[in-house]
Amino acid sequence: MNATVQPVNASTGTGAAVNIDSLSKVYKTREDDDLLALDRIDVQFEPGSFVAVVGPSGCGKSTLLSLMAGLTDATTGAIVIDGEGVSKPHPKVGVVFQSDLLLYWRTVLDNILLPIEIKKLDLARYRSRAEELLAQVGLEGFGNKFPSELSGGMRQRVAICRALIQEPGLLLMDEPFGALDALTREQMIMDLQAMWLRVRNTVLFITHGIDEAVFLADRVLVMSPRPGRIDLDLKIDMPRPRQWGNVHENKAYNGYVRQIREIFEAKGILVAH
Ligand SMILES: Nc1ncnc2c1ncn2[C@@H]1O[C@H](COP(=O)(O)OP(=O)(O)O)[C@@H](O)[C@H]1O
Ligand SMILES: [Mg+2]
Repeated sequence: MNATVQPVNASTGTGAAVNIDSLSKVYKTREDDDLLALDRIDVQFEPGSFVAVVGPSGCGKSTLLSLMAGLTDATTGAIVIDGEGVSKPHPKVGVVFQSDLLLYWRTVLDNILLPIEIKKLDLARYRSRAEELLAQVGLEGFGNKFPSELSGGMRQRVAICRALIQEPGLLLMDEPFGALDALTREQMIMDLQAMWLRVRNTVLFITHGIDEAVFLADRVLVMSPRPGRIDLDLKIDMPRPRQWGNVHENKAYNGYVRQIREIFEAKGILVAH
């Protein structure tokens, strides 16, 4: 039977190139005022790089992600993914949000296969891929469970599998571990690194956790308070795999964290007492 199954595109090394050019976003408030959320963002992501974005609440992080996911239109500027302008959700792009957004009436496997079903792709072809992904995130055999039978961390793992089912060249994650308890978060951070080292897609990881940004990323973009601009583009030069258990004793790691904290302190976002 396997012989008839078409291989899904090989994922290794297929990270997308992203080019963001003078991207701005103005929202209309309910009072009909203009609210500048993002102000002329210019940034390029190397294919297969892991880019984290940190910034204070309301600085436009989720707006940037919605624009890249094709869920919102830019006011000015452009986003180009592998040579194609983004104007609507793209099959090359997977998204994970802070809440898992699983459908409670569908099993784990059927949740993961939802994007395949919506796009009317061949379900049989992707079913074994979904099971493989579940095994990779430590949920082998959970395919027939319902979301209500899983813990928060397990549900978020399922949401990550759903985002990965089409082997997206670009994975967008908006504070994916923000709602998890500390121990689960730690495990998810380690597991995300392991997953990414296997898949090597391009990742945009949004967080307000300076620690997880520096730990995971090749590059950390530090955003200013609204209107969001990139205040610092910090290259993180540390070998992988990195170990969460001892990274806090690493001089380079602590230096990067301090550099980011200093920016927030200078802007009054972090205030010492
Ligand atoms: N749909 C919207 N309409 C009006 N204002 C919005 C909308 N979405 C976000 N905003 C505003 O844009 C700014 C940036 O929001 P957001 O991108 O969610 O920030 P972050 O994710 O960094 O917390 C905030 O001031 C927010 O209130
Ligand atoms: Mg947000």
